[in-house]
Amino acid sequence: MSDPNTNGNSKNGHELTPEEATRPAANEQPPLTTRQGHPVHDNQNTRTVGNRGPTTLENYPFLEKITHFDRERIPERVVHARGAGAHGYFEAYGTVGDEPVSKYTRAKLFQEQGKRTPVFVRFSTVIHGGTSPETLRDPRGFAVKFYTEDGNWDLVGNNLKTFFIRDAIKFPDFIHAFKPDPVTNIQDPNRQFDFVSLSPETMHTITWLFSPWGIPANYRHMEGSGVNTYKWYNAEGEGVLIKYHWVPKAGVKNLTQEEANAIQATNFNHATQDLFEAIARGDYPEWEFQVQIMSDDEHSELDFDPLDDTKLWPVDQFPMLPVGRMVLDRNPVNYFAEVEQASFGTGVLVDGLDFSDDKMLQGRTLSYSDTQRHRVGANYLQLPINRAKKEVYTNQRDGQMTYYVDQGPNPHVNYEPSSRGGLVETSQGGKPHTPYVQGNLVREAIERKNPYGQAGERYRTFTQAEKNELVSNLVGNLKKCNPDIQERMVGHLLQCDQEYGQRVADGLGLAATGEAVAVAREVAEQAGEFAVERS
Ligand code: HEM
Repeated sequence: MSDPNTNGNSKNGHELTPEEATRPAANEQPPLTTRQGHPVHDNQNTRTVGNRGPTTLENYPFLEKITHFDRERIPERVVHARGAGAHGYFEAYGTVGDEPVSKYTRAKLFQEQGKRTPVFVRFSTVIHGGTSPETLRDPRGFAVKFYTEDGNWDLVGNNLKTFFIRDAIKFPDFIHAFKPDPVTNIQDPNRQFDFVSLSPETMHTITWLFSPWGIPANYRHMEGSGVNTYKWYNAEGEGVLIKYHWVPKAGVKNLTQEEANAIQATNFNHATQDLFEAIARGDYPEWEFQVQIMSDDEHSELDFDPLDDTKLWPVDQFPMLPVGRMVLDRNPVNYFAEVEQASFGTGVLVDGLDFSDDKMLQGRTLSYSDTQRHRVGANYLQLPINRAKKEVYTNQRDGQMTYYVDQGPNPHVNYEPSSRGGLVETSQGGKPHTPYVQGNLVREAIERKNPYGQAGERYRTFTQAEKNELVSNLVGNLKKCNPDIQERMVGHLLQCDQEYGQRVADGLGLAATGEAVAVAREVAEQAGEFAVERS
């Protein structure tokens, strides 16, 4: 009922805005409108000349509805299209292992014990489209957006802790080989293993992928990792190399191929469903955040390069040190607005965190924000899921879908420097981190490539059941490949581990001969894997 002292457009002496005046009471059903705010009187019939048609073209409510529907999709992510997301928080321990974290990084989110930072996490599969089965053998994306007081930090990682290749220029080729054939639109092991057998650096991650670790049981029971090597720096500007890890409190669970097939027969959304339902019933998934630290130099004592993302850092030499925990406790309200439009990038860091010289990481850093400007739009950072949870002031203006102007006090000033009340630079939180870089510009692979060492170690550390599953999965796929590809693969695997190669050769009915090794060695030499041996 309206206030008797007013004309009906004010309440308690306060003049109502048009929005307030038309907002339904809590017990009223909201009226259907167009996006222009026009009430919709008939949502069942288009306007026609007589009830048999024809239709007329001035029918705005129909045109708005149908043309918006025509545009409901934005381009899928070119990789990692199938995903599920959730909100939560990160809680810092204030320490890294037994030491104060400030010894290594000044990043504010880590400093204080118990300090909470909101996060949004998106898990994903890599190769297939937005509604493909979640039981497929694939790395799982593990992307975390921390909304810190210093702005956003994105940690865009995977469940497997290594990657297939180590130079960003190879990424489109690797992905093309694993995506469906451009003619048949069917994924083809002959294409995948053609690339893999000619790229010995892939052996370590292939060994992970074809083991049960290549099909995590769901998103709550899997690890995460930044994979690439990053850096931390402290108040003095001193840096160290860092690897990031997420360890699920609920433990790791993986599936055999047979178990995955059984799930897929009845449910191809099982991982999204598992995550959503667990959060809805209050069983919040939790991970501990751990790091490995290495001094920032070449570490010539190691038989691999610390910047090589195809390698793990041995935990006995570089222990896993806890720095905090992450809890996911809120489901998205709208899948499209939050999960589909979420945009992560490896370049999105805060003070105290930095890149390493890892050239793969630098290649990634261009790629993410570039694809998001194409996929979501130039103003993707204005969307609620992507914008920082702090005041943002820039001189960036306009572009498609500008939603607001993040300006300073004087709207006439969109440049810097200015004497007229424009935005000003701020000082840094400590001494700058200024790594020294020197060298010839070259096109060369890193020196310590060691393509087989950790792949063999991985095989030997698997349980017998994991070994059996790995061999069976590889044999099943390689049986569909040309003989030359089979021979090259056997040659590589024999050099990873004699038993590993022998078992795959036996499964394929091939002789595990020195000839296969020679063929594989030639491939590795052509790929430059042995170009510079370690002294
Ligand atoms: C040079 C190598 C790589 C390139 C060029 C690359 C490129 C891309 C691109 C273009 C996307 C789609 C992003 C979007 O549309 O929002 C993407 C997604 C993703 N990539 Fe990579 N990627 C590379 C390597 C890696 C590696 C090594 C990892 C793991 C550490 C990784 C993890 C992810 C994840 C988790 C997503 C999904 C992010 C999300 O949930 O939105 N990528 N990548």
